Amino acid sequence: MNEINKFPNSFVSDQFVPYITAKEVETIVDSLAHTISQKYQGEELVLVGALKGSTPFLSDLMKKIKNVKVYVDFVKLSAVGRSKENNGTIILSKDLKTNILDKNVLIVEEIIDTGRALYFLKNRLTQASPRNIEVITLFDKPYKRAVPIKADYIGKQIEDQFIVGYGLDLDEYGRNFSEIYYLKYPN
Ligand code: IMP
Ligand code: MG
Repeated sequence: MNEINKFPNSFVSDQFVPYITAKEVETIVDSLAHTISQKYQGEELVLVGALKGSTPFLSDLMKKIKNVKVYVDFVKLSAVGRSKENNGTIILSKDLKTNILDKNVLIVEEIIDTGRALYFLKNRLTQASPRNIEVITLFDKPYKRAVPIKADYIGKQIEDQFIVGYGLDLDEYGRNFSEIYYLKYPN
């Protein structure tokens, strides 16, 4: 299904090219869920989603994890003072409600680019003394990594493209798409 007409105007839609089908996304999530189910079989696991982009992935992933007692919580990270010259400072604008002391924690991300957001979040959660902390990401763009961090589970490594769909947005456009598109003319 081509979802480009979900965009409100053709100026925006002309810039997007179909990249990863909904079917392929589903296959990737199935495989990740299988891996997580095996790793944490019979244990407890706290999934920590970073709002808002991770929500479709987290939702599908949690439904497919079997034989694991799953807890879910969310954080929100915000970059303050970001400009062309400056990456700004990352802050936690919504914190966890769950006590993760001695718990298995899995940070759920939709994409890792520079890694700054994830690096901040992982350090922050580590301070709460979880038993174990791992990272799962649906997509990985390793090309512009600015900090030493990588995911323990990666759905798919993609080209150095700006993508939208399945939670990923361009100024809030495209989050609700089930397919992934890339931006033809990034600026
Ligand atoms: P970071 O550069 O790894 O810190 O990525 C921070 C955030 O930027 C990610 O969690 C996404 O919300 C967003 N982001 C990075 N690459 C893309 C993309 O290709 N499309 C949409 N959002 C992106
Ligand atoms: Mg994110």
